[in-house]
Amino acid sequence: MLGVLGLISCSPSKKEPTEQKQPWWKQAVIYQIYPRSFKDSDGDGIGDLKGIISELDYIKSLGVDAVWLNPIYTSPNADNGYDVSNYRDIQPEFGTMADFDLMLSEMHKRGIRLIMDMVVNHSSDEHEWFKQSRSSRNNPYRNYYHWWNAEKGAPPYRYSLFDEKGDAWQYDSLTNAYYLHYFADKQPDLNWENPKVRQEVYDIMKFWAEKGVDGFRLDAFQFVAKDTTFPKFPDGFEKDFMKYYAMQGNLHEYLKEMNREVLSKYNLMSVAEGAGNSFEDAHNLVDEDRQELSMAYAFDGVDIPKRTGYNLLHFKDVFSRWDSAFAQKGWISIFLANHDQARMVNRYATDDPAFREAAAKMLNTFILSMRGTPYCYYGDELGMTNIGFEKIEQYRDIAAINGYKKVLNSGGDVAAYMADLKFGSRDNGRTPMQWNSSPQAGFTTGTPWLPVNPNYVEINVAKQDKDPHSVLNHFRHMVRLRKENPVLIYGAYQLLQREHPQVYAYTRTYQGERFLVLHNFSNQQAQFELPQPVAAQRLLINNYADYVPEGKTLLLKPYQSVIYRL
Ligand code: GLC
Repeated sequence: MLGVLGLISCSPSKKEPTEQKQPWWKQAVIYQIYPRSFKDSDGDGIGDLKGIISELDYIKSLGVDAVWLNPIYTSPNADNGYDVSNYRDIQPEFGTMADFDLMLSEMHKRGIRLIMDMVVNHSSDEHEWFKQSRSSRNNPYRNYYHWWNAEKGAPPYRYSLFDEKGDAWQYDSLTNAYYLHYFADKQPDLNWENPKVRQEVYDIMKFWAEKGVDGFRLDAFQFVAKDTTFPKFPDGFEKDFMKYYAMQGNLHEYLKEMNREVLSKYNLMSVAEGAGNSFEDAHNLVDEDRQELSMAYAFDGVDIPKRTGYNLLHFKDVFSRWDSAFAQKGWISIFLANHDQARMVNRYATDDPAFREAAAKMLNTFILSMRGTPYCYYGDELGMTNIGFEKIEQYRDIAAINGYKKVLNSGGDVAAYMADLKFGSRDNGRTPMQWNSSPQAGFTTGTPWLPVNPNYVEINVAKQDKDPHSVLNHFRHMVRLRKENPVLIYGAYQLLQREHPQVYAYTRTYQGERFLVLHNFSNQQAQFELPQPVAAQRLLINNYADYVPEGKTLLLKPYQSVIYRL
């Protein structure tokens, strides 16, 4: 395997894609914004669209191509916008439709595309459809949701991810029936088996496409299709619920229909949350010939870290397997964080001040040097860290709060649950963006909805902007390097020395060019043997300003990450 390094140049293979013919989203770097936490323009402590508009030049300065915005539609906020009560309007605390229009045109002016979050596995229980649906068994909207009439007896158990009892059926006395909610009881699941529901969704998507949005991220979409006879699942199925919930029934038919009706008509980029249970599932979602979605978004990478740590070999295997499964066809997303995860630097490396900056730069180099579309979650370009709440009262996330009740009620290990939350809760990744060292990190003039991480005095945009060696400027540098070198986008990936316990090393090869990428994932110096020496002059990026590894036996500092042109 090491022999590959001996080939300094190589001839392009027939299978290599030509970048000119590729869609924009393969070459894009996507920046994810959690609008509640990005920038508040009016002092209510909640980020908003005007706040985003005021920071578009900053976003542009990162070199990213597109923004994925978490939901901004009207919502009672049971799950911070993932419970939509009106899909065609803007949540007042985020602004108005005029603000949205301005934001979109200001983004487009700067060459930044916008990807909206479509939350249509479920709506809010305060959506007009659900109000109608629940009002009587004969209501024309009854069939927009899944109901189980109580005279049939208790419905077959379904697991709910957010319910405090873990039960996805909620009894509603008004019509003596249960409705289904895979998430919280305020998030009833829409009935995708009803063609009217599907048309409603396509109309909503068209509404936003007409406004000029460039793509959609489909929330929880792998769950939408259901067997509405609701067969009994085996006892304990909830331990492996994805097998029973994901990619069921007619899901692919619905995606093809959506593609025909909306995605292809408006030339939209699309990515569903999740990629099923197998490579086959993932391929079936994004195989170009099938006309469904643009790219897969698999969770295996973010499922790796545990409070007790993780094994680097496992990490390498997961990313290598996904790469090889998509080596010839299809396209994947590369990410280590999003709004459902804690901060990547804590999860995959460390927030120890001695290593934090190097570690954050290393993880960004990793994301931006793999094949697939990289997603950067806001604040990760600075190396923002977990806030690490100690008490349940500090949490805002429904998943954390209801999970706590569930553990408490079932006599579970509360201390272990709290330790898990401190490490992995979604609120860790939702604290306000750290803009500068003024009070509340310049995020708001009011009281932020979730506390600002006290380390904002050290970690903030203003400070890092001025420092050529900051995590932020390293991120910008790495984005530029990717843009200027198609080998980093399209190049074939080859893992080197899989067994190395500290170093994740790989090459990327494309059209006669080969890059060598090395990341030391440990807090110790690491040694890496090459078959041939590399010279310092070949170095393209380095997260240490004062030390360049070179030669045949490379010595890498803790969390050092380097790329050479071979
Ligand atoms: C997805 C979202 C998550 C949300 C859930 C319910 O997993 O990413 O934030 O809570 O769906 O909509």
